[in-house]
Amino acid sequence: MFASQRNMDAPTNVFLVLSGEHPTLPLAEMKAILDANRIPFKITDSFYKLVEIRADLDAVKKIGGRGAFIDEVGTEIVHSDPTTQGIDQAVKSSNLSDYLSEKDSFNIRVLRFGGVSKEVSRVKLEGHLGWLIGNITGARVNLENPTRQFRGLLAGPYFHLGLIAHQRPVGYVASRRPRKRPAFHPSTMTPKLARSMVNLSGAVAGTMFMDPFCGVGGILLEAGLLGCQVIGIDAVRRMVRGARRNLRHFEMNPLALLRADARNIPVRSIGAIATDPPYGTGASTLKSTTRNILKEFLPEAHSILTSHGRLVVASPLGTGTPDIAESAGFSPVDRHEVYVHRRLTREILVLGAN
Ligand SMILES: C[S@@+](CC[C@H](N)C(=O)[O-])C[C@H]1O[C@@H](n2cnc3c(N)ncnc32)[C@H](O)[C@@H]1O
Repeated sequence: MFASQRNMDAPTNVFLVLSGEHPTLPLAEMKAILDANRIPFKITDSFYKLVEIRADLDAVKKIGGRGAFIDEVGTEIVHSDPTTQGIDQAVKSSNLSDYLSEKDSFNIRVLRFGGVSKEVSRVKLEGHLGWLIGNITGARVNLENPTRQFRGLLAGPYFHLGLIAHQRPVGYVASRRPRKRPAFHPSTMTPKLARSMVNLSGAVAGTMFMDPFCGVGGILLEAGLLGCQVIGIDAVRRMVRGARRNLRHFEMNPLALLRADARNIPVRSIGAIATDPPYGTGASTLKSTTRNILKEFLPEAHSILTSHGRLVVASPLGTGTPDIAESAGFSPVDRHEVYVHRRLTREILVLGAN
């Protein structure tokens, strides 16, 4: 039975390799994307950057490219103890031939997470598995341009062997780096953090999405790339102009870009919000303070969010945002801390409107 004959709707063992750039955001982002896209899943195991789930591989593969922190998605074929003998036995008794035929070519790379199983050499294991897989399936090793790519993972107490279904292209955010955009401002957010905030807001293609403190549009850009209908608001005309130039550069048509005050939003209803209000350092608070802005902005945001809508807000740790949000009617869903420099750690709050 080859891949095309398998029942694609049935849940299988899917592995995801997440980025190690942050301790909590990658997993939260993965769960948020699966939930927002209504893909049923059950986490069966996780170790460091590896997460294993039961889910429909094709569905997970399709959303792989949406995540800022999803490096790889694939189907797990072998799960064994991490000794050479255990791996050998498990591969020999696996259903490898369901996935690979003699017409295929393949390569295999083994990664080790968390310094485990040091007695097993990765390079030797790659060579041995290449020989073994070739022997079992009749497929040829092709290091440069294979039709199938295997991933071996020495992670925690187990060895995992899987076929890669989606891999994040190398340098996929390079063209969107703040300095590469036509309009730059030091307050702008990096593409990865901006993308993860949009994903945490539960926005999917078609969602009406707003950044009410949009600056030069770092967050709007990521929401637009995900297919959202974006609305940006900023109190400073120069910023609105910058956001327009940046969005146009990436061939995006926002639903609206307005010079307005986020404490008095001229929009009736919105599906999702992700935003980074000014801290009074890089971006001006216009003679107010971050705390006071949030006290007026959060009730306003609550009043326009649809009933299941989410708001993701970044603010300096210590601003007291969780209490302000609760007073504004929001319920806490999740929180993360992102260290920026010695004097600034961002608190990222995911808030539910009901
Ligand atoms: C941290 S920056 C946003 C950066 C943006 N997220 C990005 O990635 O490019 C905050 C923005 O809030 C704007 N701002 C300050 N007070 C505002 C208010 N009351 N209403 C709307 N925008 C405001 C500032 O002009 C600034 O552009």
